[in-house]
Amino acid sequence: MSAATADPRHAAGPRRAVCPGSFDPVTNGHLDIIARASRLYDELIVAVFVNEAKRSMFSVDERRAMLRDATAGYGNVRVETFEGLVVDYCKTHDIPVIVKGLRAVSDFDYELQMAQMNRGLADVDTLFMPTNPEYSFLASSLVKEIAKWGGDVSALVPELVLDRLMRRARQR
Ligand code: PNS
Repeated sequence: MSAATADPRHAAGPRRAVCPGSFDPVTNGHLDIIARASRLYDELIVAVFVNEAKRSMFSVDERRAMLRDATAGYGNVRVETFEGLVVDYCKTHDIPVIVKGLRAVSDFDYELQMAQMNRGLADVDTLFMPTNPEYSFLASSLVKEIAKWGGDVSALVPELVLDRLMRRARQR
């Protein structure tokens, strides 16, 4: 038996990956990564990280609902939430790969550190996908700030997010 077939992770079965993040809210940049990653795996789980310590504009349920709406057209994308370490989520759900989008070199240092830590912690690998250059400047934090001051973010988020974003921004 070859080394490749001896490793149980090569056993046949659905190829799953997780795309974790805060998604507060989901942007067109996130959706670009999700769409491309969903073509590489049988099942892609988009996992919204529950972080009570971080002030967010949208609740976890709202973020999950927006993601579910925005990814409804992809048959193999599931949206879930998780609390704790992403590697524990991976172990519980038998997911060997984390997918992350990289916008610029400035993302790389921290993402590499997390990727190496996650590999060391639980032998979970990370696949880095270069963001579409069209979205290399895009971040949820900027979208929220622009919306808060009445700026136009219609090209940066899906329409269903835009409606909720403008409503929420007006309430603040
Ligand atoms: O969209 P974000 O805020 O950049 O996402 C960051 C996220 C949620 C993917 C990252 O902080 C994460 O994986 N958090 C879960 C907790 C964890 O596993 N931390 C250790 C990483 S080595």
